[in-house]
Amino acid sequence: MASIEDFVKERSPLTDIQIHRLRELIADWQLLSDLSFADLILWIPLRKDLVSGPTGYVAVAHIRPTTAATLFPLDVIGDEIAHGERKYIDQALATAEIVRDTEPEPMGDFSVKEETIPVLVDGLVVAVISRHRNAELMRQPSRLELNYREIAHNLYRMITEETFPYMDAGSLFDPTPRVGDGLIRLDINGVVAYASPNAQSAFSRLGWLHEVEGTELGKLAHSVALQSANAQEESLSGGLSGKALKRVEIENAGGTVSFTVLPLLEGENRIGAIVLLNNVTELRRRERELVTKDATIREIHHRVKNNLQTVSALLRLQARRINDPNASAALNEAVRRIASIALVHETLSNTPDASVGFDQVLDSLVTHALELSPRMNELRIERTGLLGSLDPRIATPLALVITELIHNALEHGLAEEGSVLGIHVQSVHPDIQVVISDDGVGLPEGFNIAKSPNLGLQIVRTLTENELGGTLSLISDNKETRAILEFPVTS
Ligand SMILES: Nc1ncnc2c1ncn2[C@@H]1O[C@H](COP(=O)(O)OP(=O)(O)OP(=O)(O)O)[C@@H](O)[C@H]1O
Ligand SMILES: [Mg+2]
Repeated sequence: MASIEDFVKERSPLTDIQIHRLRELIADWQLLSDLSFADLILWIPLRKDLVSGPTGYVAVAHIRPTTAATLFPLDVIGDEIAHGERKYIDQALATAEIVRDTEPEPMGDFSVKEETIPVLVDGLVVAVISRHRNAELMRQPSRLELNYREIAHNLYRMITEETFPYMDAGSLFDPTPRVGDGLIRLDINGVVAYASPNAQSAFSRLGWLHEVEGTELGKLAHSVALQSANAQEESLSGGLSGKALKRVEIENAGGTVSFTVLPLLEGENRIGAIVLLNNVTELRRRERELVTKDATIREIHHRVKNNLQTVSALLRLQARRINDPNASAALNEAVRRIASIALVHETLSNTPDASVGFDQVLDSLVTHALELSPRMNELRIERTGLLGSLDPRIATPLALVITELIHNALEHGLAEEGSVLGIHVQSVHPDIQVVISDDGVGLPEGFNIAKSPNLGLQIVRTLTENELGGTLSLISDNKETRAILEFPVTS
């Protein structure tokens, strides 16, 4: 969609602040269109001619009402008109006053009433809204229509007084509540002067079967909310008094209704408020469901971690009872490997994300591995790069692979000579590279990773190829040994 800037570039002297304000107006003006059952078009005056004065306007925005049929089935955005072509627009621009009670004029098959509202920013008219309504309708307006129109006029006047759109309303209108979902009009004391049928129904859903009109909305909401077992809203009465722009939610067994309170002003004075209702029961229920699901998944990871810890405790006990030192060492190795897997589940049980913050896992892996090294205090760790979040499908095998490689460096390289353990990771989409290096004794003569019969590197190779779909190479250069692991992130 073209922005206001696209239309006025070079052709209008609007400042950034003025454009910002117009954008805020457009963000909120469905409400105006619906309340006045009218199409609204926003016109921006084009740059004046130094000699002949005003030149014309360009239409930069258009909104159709959801409460009535549109009069403009075709797009009007980008249309231009010359000064003098549409007198009401010229008049609003010149006088900075709303042009009302105009005579209907024929437009196609319809008789249409056009009224205009100047949009002011810091005392200057920067644009004009033209408002088009089918004059045939509403010869005998209902109470709803009368109330909507009165409120609309209030809001139009607030535009000229620069109190609508509300400053900093941003998130309050997101999602924008719709007039059709229920509207309440409050008088200056916060008493309901009018409640649309849908507003009345919203209260019946919440269990209030009496008349809504004539009651003080804050008190009514309070008593309705108290019917719920866990009423938490103590500030309901304050929030719904109509004094300030606010969004409040009422919840009870019947459902959840959101109330958006928009104060109506006349100059500096508050003259009442409108409250837009929105049934958000389903939305909140689904949100809650998602939270529960998240919590369940976290709980499962937590239990898996606990179970793995139990398994490693059993193995450790068994290792202590075995006399054969080889067997007991093997069991202790298994304990260590299980601990690496448990670590990934622990991380998953602590975050709301479905992915694993791997850098944190790597921190713990290094700490655990060093704790087992007799030379822990003499070693220097060089660590570079970050991996960010990884899918658990990658994180678990990767944690195991890295554990093995770090262990080998500590056990075979650094145990004898050397003092630097290097851990370098980098993620260059779509590949991840992990390099574990040491400056110890170097690989044994004739070392061939494919032929190494020991379990450690066999595990590493199997996981690298089968689970990570990557490659592993071990190289010795002088005394330095480097294990280079590479794999793609996209599965
Ligand atoms: N960083 C290293 N520096 C020197 N030699 C290494 C290094 N990494 C591996 N090696 C050599 O490769 C061999 C095979 O390693 P592997 O991890 O498969 O077995 P392991 O460490 O001996 O036993 P485990 O099954 O407990 O891991 C080691 O015995 C060692 O000789
Ligand atoms: Mg090993």
